[in-house]
Amino acid sequence: MKVLVIGSGGREHALVWKISQSPKVKKIYCAPGSAGISEFAEAIAIGPEQIEKLAEFAEREKIDLTVVGPELPLTLGIADLFESRGLSIFGPNKAAAQLEGSKAFAKEILKENRIPTAAFETFADATAAKRYLAQVKPPYVVKADGLAAGKGVLICPSRQEAEAAIDEILVRKTFGHAGEKLVIEEFLDGEEASFMALTDGEHILPLASSQDHKRVFDNDQGPNTGGMGAYSPAPVVTPAIHRRIMDEVLMPLLAGLKQRGIRYRGVIYAGVMITKDGPKVLEFNARFGDPECQPIMLRLKSDLVPLLDATIDGKIDQVRPEWYDEPAVCVVLCAGGYPGTYDKGKEITGLEKLRDWPNGFVFHAGTAKNDGRWITAGGRVLGVTARGTGITEAVGEVYRAVGEISWDGMHYRKDIARRALTHSLSLRERARERGN
Ligand code: AMP
Ligand code: GLY
Repeated sequence: MKVLVIGSGGREHALVWKISQSPKVKKIYCAPGSAGISEFAEAIAIGPEQIEKLAEFAEREKIDLTVVGPELPLTLGIADLFESRGLSIFGPNKAAAQLEGSKAFAKEILKENRIPTAAFETFADATAAKRYLAQVKPPYVVKADGLAAGKGVLICPSRQEAEAAIDEILVRKTFGHAGEKLVIEEFLDGEEASFMALTDGEHILPLASSQDHKRVFDNDQGPNTGGMGAYSPAPVVTPAIHRRIMDEVLMPLLAGLKQRGIRYRGVIYAGVMITKDGPKVLEFNARFGDPECQPIMLRLKSDLVPLLDATIDGKIDQVRPEWYDEPAVCVVLCAGGYPGTYDKGKEITGLEKLRDWPNGFVFHAGTAKNDGRWITAGGRVLGVTARGTGITEAVGEVYRAVGEISWDGMHYRKDIARRALTHSLSLRERARERGN
């Protein structure tokens, strides 16, 4: 088979790495790809938004399977375009991708199908939005409606800050078109989890659970980012919570989409807050999470390609993937300044020491090569990912590897997976209390 992966980040590196292990696959292309991805896939200089050119490429090269990494081409209708030309593509169509592309649309679907989520209102007018603040309690959650690379959510402790956030989105248009509307919603307290599943529109195959770390600094301080690290599985998703997410979120979601005549095929990602009243939806994504995809690919024992094919062919009920029991942890190393404006072109040292690392892999998110040397070329630069016999071992292994790598201005969180460690400690304590 010939496979084309669209995208260039750490998630796409993980997908290409996993797909390259499939005995079914002879050749992989990645558009636009990256210097890191080039180890496994031929880079094609077409951007993810150039969907016509991507379709022409797939036709010309007789690509058997195209896998879409990021959301942008999905919201532009790449799946509709490929399907209209008889090309096999993994990722939802434009109508289905609105679940991620428009928070207002996602909220409508949630409400229509009585799926638990934060109470909310949508506004296009700043004065009306500010007036509404009087009716809700702080902290205020103000969200730009459209795509904003994980940065369009502002959590404001005071009314003054919430008013400033409204002005930033609706008046100063900091998020451009993504900020033509905004959503103000109830603050949810609890622990977050990322719940991803493959669906062919009829059946749902849950993938391993995971947890992201959205804030830039340790202890969830500082602004939101695209994701500073992730681990899988997430102990907060107990078997009971897992069942509730399936029964109360994903099944009604699929039924609701079908009722609207929308067939969802691809990965559905539900960002959920596990509150004292159970799971509540924070957001949907129409693609694999980044960086959650990295530890999940490291834990997937089965070939990924038949899973993607089964999703496209409407046969996801007929496959049963196998997973490594060992947990996996990914720590994202970032450029100085990220998530604000950041430096580029800094030389990265130490990568060669991890070339034959038996317990993990370093996924590249924003690197380039200059005269044979690795340099930084993005905000999130590397996703160092390891598996261990337990969560403590995986965390130890990943930070040992992180210690090998450096560049001027590099920063990362030191507390990735701390919540999982706390969960496993409390499990052990509870076992001790019970006397076993
Ligand atoms: P979103 O892009 O909607 O998932 O929001 C990004 C992050 O903001 C989430 O992962 C949460 O950490 C936080 N967040 C969003 N909505 C809420 C909410 N209603 N209550 C508390 N935190 C939230
Ligand atoms: N890691 C969160 C996301 O991919 O949206």
